[in-house]
Amino acid sequence: MTTPVEQIKEKLDIAELIGSYVKLQKAGVNFKALCPFHTEKTPSFYVTPSRQIWHCFGCNAGGDIFRFVMNIEGVEFPEALRILAEKAGVVLERQDPKIRSERARILDLLESAASYYEKNLYERKDVGVYLKERGMAGETAKSFRLGYALNSWDAALSHLRQAGFKPEEVERAGLAIKSEKDSGHYDRFRARIMFPLFDGAGRIVGFSGRIFEKDLSSENKEAEPAKYINTPQTVLYDKSKMLYGFDRAKTEIRKKNSALILEGQMDLIMSHQAGLTNAVAVSGTALTPQHLVNLKRLCDTLIMSFDSDSAGFDATQKSVDLAVGAGFEIKIARVSGAKDPADLIKENPQNWFKAVEQASPFVSFLLETLALKNQDPLVFKKEVGRVALPHIASMQSEIDKAHWVGVVSAALKMREENLWQEISRLRRKSPQKSANIIGSAPKIRSRRSLLEERLIGLAVLKKADLNSEFAGCNPEWFSSERRGIFESILNGIPSEDHYVKKLALEAEVVYSAPDKLADELKSLIRELKKENLREKLTELGDSVKNLEISGNKEELEKKFSEFRAVSSELNSI
Ligand code: CTP
Ligand code: MN
Repeated sequence: MTTPVEQIKEKLDIAELIGSYVKLQKAGVNFKALCPFHTEKTPSFYVTPSRQIWHCFGCNAGGDIFRFVMNIEGVEFPEALRILAEKAGVVLERQDPKIRSERARILDLLESAASYYEKNLYERKDVGVYLKERGMAGETAKSFRLGYALNSWDAALSHLRQAGFKPEEVERAGLAIKSEKDSGHYDRFRARIMFPLFDGAGRIVGFSGRIFEKDLSSENKEAEPAKYINTPQTVLYDKSKMLYGFDRAKTEIRKKNSALILEGQMDLIMSHQAGLTNAVAVSGTALTPQHLVNLKRLCDTLIMSFDSDSAGFDATQKSVDLAVGAGFEIKIARVSGAKDPADLIKENPQNWFKAVEQASPFVSFLLETLALKNQDPLVFKKEVGRVALPHIASMQSEIDKAHWVGVVSAALKMREENLWQEISRLRRKSPQKSANIIGSAPKIRSRRSLLEERLIGLAVLKKADLNSEFAGCNPEWFSSERRGIFESILNGIPSEDHYVKKLALEAEVVYSAPDKLADELKSLIRELKKENLREKLTELGDSVKNLEISGNKEELEKKFSEFRAVSSELNSI
């Protein structure tokens, strides 16, 4: 009987799985990519299908598919198992509900709540009519699993209680609020259209609710209730990580190498309905570093679109600057003649396609917008200096900078030199912070470890003609920590250890030219031998010194002749 873990590994292709999260490039028999776990400009992240491992030589993170999902989804092993079992179609035995983790319980609870809200929506024709009026097809609402929270204090709560969940759990899931008066609980979402919020793996982790009718609590109040309310921070939901629609957009984002960044859920849903499916929504907040890390794994260009009544670009400047600092190219898609993308699409989906196609690079967008707003040429220049130059200064590529300095210089009729001066002043003011997210730099390897590790790696790769090629390589030369490993490989015992697989991968990457391999191997063996002789020589030298002091002539003669022998052996290699 194979275990579920083994079954899953057999069924899933590691390159395909990792390829659904990061852009993989072929590198011989392996694949490489920019590491999703730390910021880098040249790829040091490798995936080896034959050994079923991945490893980053930059941050030293690595492991199997389970470790990858744990790292990238930020989940514990049981969750990773669940995600991968589902992908592989492996049925896991039902666990005892008592020992299931809190997160899994809450996932179940939210799923149960979503079905309940969906059923409510189905029964409320008026909500359906409203969505149709907004241009949303019934199929679309179904696909995004929209629902309705009744105008009641406890309808969701009592439904979930009946389904076996405690009020405290409903509270921890973000769906109920504890009453200050009587320590009872009541529904957080009332009289609202419910948008389930999905994580990257497509599981519901929270909700956003849009007001539909005056709810009970507002009957006696003057103040308008918030148009949208969202799940607060929970064990599953973190606002700064949430990108609405990411789960269904990610494949297309990777294919197009660009992501559409929208403001609201309605915009996102309508964009997907129209057929532009590389769209995600930030749901009323600025882009966070965590969003950018997730997006950077998949694409290089962000096409942003904001409501036409949006607070203006000062508000979005923060998002844009952060994204530029992370190495993205930014474009702006303009929704002219409509309130927001959702409305534009409702009028005519083709207009949305056009707006995205004609999206302008951010600097051009700034120049046009600022020129419209500021008729006075001096004010215009100052505004460009204030808004556009810091943006150019934060670009990573010198070529990009030079290009945009040229464009601004032409637009302002100013010499490039002056602009460059301002840019270098800005650069000094805000040194770029590196955005290392996970993992740390590998330790510096000693020469000895390097030689031993390369030899072990090659021994794994060259299993066919091990004996002839490694004939001159004495396991005694290896340090104790690696001697056993090397001997087992020479004896043809395969290793399942990640460390050994990583060394094989590294050897494969380093020695990619097969015609030179035999020479490389000889030289490694020679160098390890020399390393040993050198160490022995140092040892003998120390003994000779000590014996000279203690005056033991006989022993001194012996050690000295040994010293000469080792020394001449070393010179002869
Ligand atoms: N938002 C929020 N809280 C609010 C208002 C807005 O969280 N009080 C978020 C929502 O995610 C919303 C997004 O900001 O989708 C954009 O806000 P807005 O443009 O006001 O919403 P629309 O999506 O245009 O709203 P609708 O189309 O439903 O009228
Ligand atoms: Mn809007």
